[in-house]
Amino acid sequence: MKKTIIIYGSTTGNAASAAQAIAAKLSGCDIKDAAEATTDDLEGYDNLILGSSTWGDGELQDDWYGFLPKLGTVDLSAKTVAVFGVGDQYSYSTTYVNAMGELYDAAKAAGAKIVGATATDGYSFDTSTAVRDGKFVGLALDYDNQSDLSDSRIDAWVKQILPEL
Ligand SMILES: Cc1cc2nc3c(=O)[nH]c(=O)nc-3n(C[C@H](O)[C@H](O)[C@H](O)COP(=O)(O)O)c2cc1C
Repeated sequence: MKKTIIIYGSTTGNAASAAQAIAAKLSGCDIKDAAEATTDDLEGYDNLILGSSTWGDGELQDDWYGFLPKLGTVDLSAKTVAVFGVGDQYSYSTTYVNAMGELYDAAKAAGAKIVGATATDGYSFDTSTAVRDGKFVGLALDYDNQSDLSDSRIDAWVKQILPEL
């Protein structure tokens, strides 16, 4: 695996837990809260794993607002990006993990190669901007309703993306 960093935004700790669980399966990977991330954290790595919970009406977690615009200032064309999202598919069924869709769009606009799309099987929601061509653009987690599935979903996803990192 080339140099890899996980950058996450989390309000109540769920996306932070996911970030730590992903990091534990990727030895040598760094991890940073989006509130403290800088453009050096984008430039200094080959692989970026970006994660956010979704808040408000399908919005990014607060700590991403300061940092996401900086993604657009860095050329990510030589980098591989994977995204993950945490949300509540039952209470927010029309905006489930929308923030993951925003991270995906920003990384794509900055030229990154994006890996790690997953099937929507096993989830129940109406709409999500993180679904493109029938798949999630990354790993979708739901600690409010399907906490028991998080470990196995993270495990399968890390195995899926590892050969690309
Ligand atoms: C006020 C509020 C708004 C929320 N909005 C959404 C939403 O639009 N879409 C979604 O998938 N989850 C939504 N959620 C659920 C959170 O994303 C979920 O609880 C998540 O696990 C929080 O992760 P964090 O602790 O990492 O911030 C919302 C939760 C609250 C309390």
